[in-house]
Amino acid sequence: MVQAARKGAPIAAAAAKPKLPARPPLPSRKSASAPTRRSFFGSAIVWVTEPFLAAWVAMGAIAATWGLATARFMMPNMIVEPPTKFKVGPPSDYPPGTVSTKWKAARGIWVVNAEYDGRNLVYALATVCTHLGCTPNWLEGEQKFKCPCHGSGFYITGINFEGPAPRPLERMGIRLAEDGSLEVDKSVKFQEELGQWEDAASFVEVA
Ligand code: FES
Repeated sequence: MVQAARKGAPIAAAAAKPKLPARPPLPSRKSASAPTRRSFFGSAIVWVTEPFLAAWVAMGAIAATWGLATARFMMPNMIVEPPTKFKVGPPSDYPPGTVSTKWKAARGIWVVNAEYDGRNLVYALATVCTHLGCTPNWLEGEQKFKCPCHGSGFYITGINFEGPAPRPLERMGIRLAEDGSLEVDKSVKFQEELGQWEDAASFVEVA
């Protein structure tokens, strides 16, 4: 009885074993290794067009850069500068023996009313040191222009008297306009050492 049961045990175990699902068929050697016709043409198109695409992108970038450079070259270099002629008010705004610093920052001039060669004149001095081009300061207490760079000094007339400046400050053109205002013209300069301060366009005589 026991033997019969033992004999029958494997049969029962085999019967209890769950059935495995059927394996999917292996792909044939042909389908695993050889590309399909569609994938072959797709790869070929990518292989052929990719370098062209990169070339087109590069050419487009070069053309855009060149176009921008050409457009920039065609545009004029415009620097907006203030007009060289401008009004600074009537002579009465500049009392005798004074230096006005009102126009120094905006226009680069001092308007001076001082005696020169026995005459009372109003003139415009450039705020540029004749040594190396720094901007001097008007020192009211010392009645002189003093350059902060190397120490040149100029009298109220603009004549240099100390430091390395080799010549006087320059005058700008000035005239009495029809409306009674002083009009300064920075497009013309007058240098004392060249005898140009004798030119009537370099000053306005006042009482
Ligand atoms: Fe004025 Fe040198 S620049 S003293």
